[in-house]
Amino acid sequence: MTLFAINTKLTVNLSHIEKNNRFAIDVDKGLSAKRKYLPPKYFYDKLGSRLFEKICDQPEYYPTRTETGILSADMDNIVKILGDHRNSLNIIELGSGSSVKTKLLLKNFLSKRRIHYFPIDISESILNLSVKNLMNEFYDLKCTAICSEYIEGLKRINELISDSHNFSYQKLIIFFGSTIGNFEPIQARVFLSSIKKQMTSQDKMLIGFDLQKDKRTLEKAYDDAAGITAKFNLNILTRINRELGGKFNLNSFYHKSFYNQSRNRIEMHLVSKHEQEVKIKSLNKIFSFKVDESIQTENSYKFSLNQIKNLAENSGFRIVRNFTDLRGQFCLSCLH
Ligand code: AVI
Repeated sequence: MTLFAINTKLTVNLSHIEKNNRFAIDVDKGLSAKRKYLPPKYFYDKLGSRLFEKICDQPEYYPTRTETGILSADMDNIVKILGDHRNSLNIIELGSGSSVKTKLLLKNFLSKRRIHYFPIDISESILNLSVKNLMNEFYDLKCTAICSEYIEGLKRINELISDSHNFSYQKLIIFFGSTIGNFEPIQARVFLSSIKKQMTSQDKMLIGFDLQKDKRTLEKAYDDAAGITAKFNLNILTRINRELGGKFNLNSFYHKSFYNQSRNRIEMHLVSKHEQEVKIKSLNKIFSFKVDESIQTENSYKFSLNQIKNLAENSGFRIVRNFTDLRGQFCLSCLH
């Protein structure tokens, strides 16, 4: 876990060796499975994070602009729901990325309350960039960035908060972008339950859910005409080549995505164009691929309002209010 301390006195705690080890173990496990897969969290190296930012700007990828639109349109109600407390607010963002949407929130809150912002992200590069950016824009913002996985980061923040004087301050946990859709349904429940356990009765969570919609809109969003999503998907092989001494030839695989209607999810795959063997040096292994065999790299679940309610309640939350856009494409839920 890496902590970037801004305006605070904190220690830095690097564990690159451990991170790389975990990557090797996960790649080995995924590529040795009967149906090959790779965990989507490994998309986000430096280039992968940049490509994801680019995906968010593609005309076909509606979630980012729709969620931003909901935030802008409903800002006053969202701020009101969090209570008109006079004291400070700790805003914790899971998977903060470039923090673009968060800026909207910060702007509004900073005029009313003192804010300590804690972005948590697994990409060190994107975290560095967004924090620099935020510090330039908001002079009075206290910010502590944490480079780690979400629950680990959240636990660390709770420790930091309880060690400091702002333990009693209300927490707002934000999880934008429908990243919850990248979890398998059981994992999503376990994950939200763990978050709920880290919250006190005054805390709230703001979480984005991509809603179910027509297949065509969904499939276009995950196969944009400019080919950015394809590059993003293939980049995971480049990462294996670079970090684990893999010998993947990127021209021998292609990006495939489709909506699996019965499971309400977009599936992303990397498909082998022909029979081939690929060595991964640091695993000291060779993996065989048949023609058309695929590596599943991501699921992106799409929700109904009923499923959101069930997921929230099964994780110990209650929905305070759902905010949706006029076309019913996306939902921002305030949970308590
Ligand atoms: C991060 N996550 C919510 C994105 C999604 O839509 O599932 C990741 C993504 N994959 C391809 N395009 C975007």
